[in-house]
Amino acid sequence: MLSEDYIYMETGNKVIDEAVQGSATTIESKGNGNRKVYIESYGCQMNFSDSEIVASILVKDGFDTTKDLQEADLVLVNTCSIREKAEQTVRNRLQSFQHVKKAKPEMIVGVLGCMAERLKSKFLEEEKLVDIVVGPDAYRDLPNLVKQVDEGKKAVNVILSKEETYADISPVRLLSNGVSAFISITRGCDNMCTFCVVPFTRGRERSRNPETILNEAKELFEKGFREVTLLGQNVDSYLWYGKEGLKKDYKNLSDEEKEKSMNFGQLMEQVALISPKLRVRFSTSHPKDITDEFLAIMAKYDNICKYIHLPFQSGNTRVLEKMNRGYTREWYMGRVDKIKEVMPDCAISADIIAGFCSETAEEHKDTLSMMEYVKYDFSYMFKYSERPNTAAAKKFEDDVPEDEKSRRLSEIVALQRDHSLEANQGYVGKTFEVLIEKLSKRNDQELAGRTSQNTVVVFPKENYKVGDYVTVKVHSCTGGTLLGKAI
Ligand code: SAH
Ligand code: SF4
Ligand code: F3S
Repeated sequence: MLSEDYIYMETGNKVIDEAVQGSATTIESKGNGNRKVYIESYGCQMNFSDSEIVASILVKDGFDTTKDLQEADLVLVNTCSIREKAEQTVRNRLQSFQHVKKAKPEMIVGVLGCMAERLKSKFLEEEKLVDIVVGPDAYRDLPNLVKQVDEGKKAVNVILSKEETYADISPVRLLSNGVSAFISITRGCDNMCTFCVVPFTRGRERSRNPETILNEAKELFEKGFREVTLLGQNVDSYLWYGKEGLKKDYKNLSDEEKEKSMNFGQLMEQVALISPKLRVRFSTSHPKDITDEFLAIMAKYDNICKYIHLPFQSGNTRVLEKMNRGYTREWYMGRVDKIKEVMPDCAISADIIAGFCSETAEEHKDTLSMMEYVKYDFSYMFKYSERPNTAAAKKFEDDVPEDEKSRRLSEIVALQRDHSLEANQGYVGKTFEVLIEKLSKRNDQELAGRTSQNTVVVFPKENYKVGDYVTVKVHSCTGGTLLGKAI
């Protein structure tokens, strides 16, 4: 299926609806004061997770959160820079705030996240209506920045940190269904893929104290949550070595640090052991770093969901090298073979880029043949979009014509559609344990949840309720959804 998850949200509308209206179970958080903050998020899950940290910081400072833009005193937009289109969506949205601000000139508008980090104070010049610009590592400074604006100044803090992981902050679950929640385990990225803006907007990679991760997961479970997703740009390189700080390789740790160390597999195991009734997911895995040790742990626990998001970007080794991805086509295929060997029922999804600098039509075919080889359950598919200051922008020419990029992308999308349908047809007739997440959007007599493999299943409500586990037999499917009945 082409996932309905709002992971990379430059298409905007859906998430704007979601953010403005919230879902029925959205938790509105009451602080001590009367000022109200409204937060809208774009981009990856990490941004959504960060917005919950921001909400927590502001609630502590006396703000209430609101789902209603009209009644907000402080409007924050958490932004994404991953592709040009993502930034354009945010600019349009900021423009649309103009009339609200006209009616209510005292309303403060702040820009958070990756675009704030990328553009820094330029934002204040370009977007006249913005009062605050805050980068991803400076959210603790927000109360202070709001104060500066109250005093009639504009406020900017885009300092990136070597230590900040917001480890001690208990997020306010803004858009939660009360069943699943995100937990950030790393921040930043050290990989420097040549096309990618993230290392510049999010800074260097840091791992969060595992104790705080485990406490957060336990607390969520006690509150009734039944699924946590551990988040990072490259979760496989998680490595705690006793203190907060920049990423290190295991081989470079001192004996004392090795003693205190915990890697991703070990962390995952600890989270899985909290309760067999707590599902654990993770995103994103990096093909160069996903280890056999980790896959063995994944296979060992039923509550670690059998689903891996394993972006490959391109199926051609020359292009992968130019992208600085750190693996070859053969390496990637070997990782997929291993996954299927230890977990034959594991679903895999991918991110794919069409038309990267100098990609030939032949090389594009290698991407299609990779898709044939793996048969992804679903994929996030993009045209290459040059980002300012990345290595690709500096060193390579963005030379695949736009219409050719579109042609290649549409081939990728068409093939994925076939594969998603094929995958779903393969699930028909089987039974799955489904964690119920919400009422179906189309019919309030039906419930929707996901299988361990991350496929959405819709089935008649009967007496089941959100948060229950239920065994569902699948009787039919569409390209995106399985239809079944509880047994
Ligand atoms: N850390 C993750 C991906 C984060 S960005 C990883 O390495 O897999 C999410 C996806 O956006 C990437 O996987 C890539 O497919 C896409 N992307 C990133 N930069 C892009 C660009 N400049 N143009 C088009 N797509 C891009
Ligand atoms: Fe970007 Fe590569 Fe880091 Fe992913 S691993 S965030 S694509 S630099
Ligand atoms: Fe976008 Fe920043 Fe995430 S660029 S994809 S919001 S890390």
